[in-house]
Amino acid sequence: MKTQKAIKDRRSIKYFDADHQMTAEEIDELLSLAALSPTAFNVQHWRFVVVDDPELRKAIRAHSWDQAQVTDASLLLVLCADLKAWEKQPERYWAKADKEVSEFMLPAIKAYYSTKTRVQRDEAMRSCGIAAQTIMLAAKAMGYDSCPMDGFDFNRVAQLIRLPQDHIISMFITVGKATKKPWPRPGQLPLEELVIKNQFNPRSPKPQSEIKTEPMAEVSDEVVTEVKPKAKPKAKPKVKAKD
Ligand SMILES: Cc1cc2nc3c(=O)[nH]c(=O)nc-3n(C[C@H](O)[C@H](O)[C@H](O)COP(=O)(O)O)c2cc1C
Repeated sequence: MKTQKAIKDRRSIKYFDADHQMTAEEIDELLSLAALSPTAFNVQHWRFVVVDDPELRKAIRAHSWDQAQVTDASLLLVLCADLKAWEKQPERYWAKADKEVSEFMLPAIKAYYSTKTRVQRDEAMRSCGIAAQTIMLAAKAMGYDSCPMDGFDFNRVAQLIRLPQDHIISMFITVGKATKKPWPRPGQLPLEELVIKNQFNPRSPKPQSEIKTEPMAEVSDEVVTEVKPKAKPKAKPKVKAKD
């Protein structure tokens, strides 16, 4: 299948044939292709959790707005990333490179990530997003349908899959045989709105005058391992509209 056709034919499928099973070889092929996706500094920090335990799938579905894909797809992947992969034997990522290349890369990796929790998280999400699309297009080429999903309780799912403290969940990818056609594409924005030539319009809302760098107080790489009952929401304080 041509890449262009796979891109055009891929749609987010809501209903899968619960009886269809992918072979171990197919799953292996799909994940091997996913593992060829690019990552900054080749840190390959994605971790693909394959959930094939039906009871675990049911438990995850209960925290995923009861979405049928979670139990009915042939494959449920929880795309995670190891936020600290950059510091875990990074020489592995450049093992086959020329000596001078790896000698340059290893200190560069450390300088780029150490102390920067926001960068670690942003990179993880970027890499998982790219891997997700690789998986969905490869699935299409292999005769399968898919659905990316983030409609679930991230903390509950983290607990259910026993996510390590220094990992993060990006999204689910479900793969299988569609039983219902997707609705027609609901509406694509025109390219004129999406594509900016060189610079944003000077008359468009206030450009950023200052690029925010570390530390970002609101960003945390902490994974909540204990889900506490939600406190009653407090009345929102009244705030004046921003300038
Ligand atoms: C990050 C992300 C999360 C999504 N979460 C869900 C989800 O939880 N359930 C669902 O049915 N579709 C989900 N979708 C699919 C979108 O609804 C879908 O991509 C969008 O409507 C465009 O349709 P298309 O993918 O068929 O082109 C998600 C898509 C993305 C990219």
